[in-house]
Amino acid sequence: MLSKYFKPSLLEKIAESAGTPVYVYSAAVFLKQITAYKKAFSSLGPLFCYAMKANSSAALCGLAAREGWGADVVSGGELYRALKAGFRPEKIILSGVGKTPAELEYALKAGILFINAESFEEVQEIERVAARLKVRAPLSLRINPDVDPHTHKYITTGKLGSKFGVTFEEAQKIYLYAAESECLRPVGAQFHIGSQVHSAAPYALAARRLAAFMLKLASRGINLKYADVGGGWGVKEGAEMSDPAPLARAVAGVFAGTGLKVILEPGRSVSAPAGALLTRVIYRKRGGHKNFIVVDAAMNDLIRPALYGAKHPVALVGRGRGPEKIYDIVGPVCETGDFLAEGVRLREPAAGSLLAVYSAGAYGFSMSSQYNSRPRAAEALITGASSWRLIRRRETYKDLVAAEL
Ligand SMILES: Cc1ncc(COP(=O)(O)O)c(C=O)c1O
Repeated sequence: MLSKYFKPSLLEKIAESAGTPVYVYSAAVFLKQITAYKKAFSSLGPLFCYAMKANSSAALCGLAAREGWGADVVSGGELYRALKAGFRPEKIILSGVGKTPAELEYALKAGILFINAESFEEVQEIERVAARLKVRAPLSLRINPDVDPHTHKYITTGKLGSKFGVTFEEAQKIYLYAAESECLRPVGAQFHIGSQVHSAAPYALAARRLAAFMLKLASRGINLKYADVGGGWGVKEGAEMSDPAPLARAVAGVFAGTGLKVILEPGRSVSAPAGALLTRVIYRKRGGHKNFIVVDAAMNDLIRPALYGAKHPVALVGRGRGPEKIYDIVGPVCETGDFLAEGVRLREPAAGSLLAVYSAGAYGFSMSSQYNSRPRAAEALITGASSWRLIRRRETYKDLVAAEL
């Protein structure tokens, strides 16, 4: 099915023109994911705040903004990008465990929907900044619902003992404090249990806990408007699309009819299926019992396999030779952990052949670096059956040193 959106002839054309490695995104797939979310949640009418950390490309963010989505941002830099990409300030929320006073000031001056605070000290800082700016800061708390999302430990965030959020007990104290403050306006409560979550059950459990807590707060006179259930809905390894319907059923099962405005912060599930990383074969070699294909993309371009053991589907864009063999696809970086995929079954590619690493539209380019002094990859957007454009140029050697003094 993906070949419908990532046509081999078009991928060859893009790689020829833009060079490799290059990230290629399909606007159609990205929009299809957005439509799937809207449809699945139509009975709730939530506000979707696209989690920009997954992929903050202005071209993709602009598509989401035009669909009426807001943005979940986690730094001043992401807020800057969000505003530039066309997200409306009143649909932007600021999350993150360590926002600086400067970032808080930027957010309050921009007039965003609310700040998701993660500690009492942060709430006090927000209060100080708001007092200085003579505004009342719209506040939400990220609450740790102590739910296990059964995902990789690096992307598990909603269990006690993680650095994120505050407990329900602490949250209650903070809301009572905030309700008394002239500079704070408590408007919402949030959780985000983790990323690459494939079961709706942990969301249902966390949502029930959040709803019960919000009811308890209401009995103390604090009526919040927004129930934010975070992001994290997964994309199955090797799957071409992500279906948000089970998540929608779980969330609606708790919040439908409560009068609360539900917020979701999906990132990966929207952008991962929309992206492929194109890379060319440099060399083939054997190492002991293994066959290696050395390509021109590396862990600096796509770190997920090395960081989380993520498995991306890899395919030859053209044809290979002979019978299929098992290959490890590795990059030129000087780390044994530098691989894009292990144990991939392919016909033998000639040097120069093009490979596509699929499901790479999330946490691919946005987590890329210049490690080993490798300029970052270019990015291209497929806009129609045979149309595409470059949306970010490949970095140059000059870019590597541009900020050095
Ligand atoms: C607060 C918050 N919201 C949303 C997301 C998006 O998660 P995902 O891309 O898995 O949907 C994250 C990811 O870490 C997050 O930390």
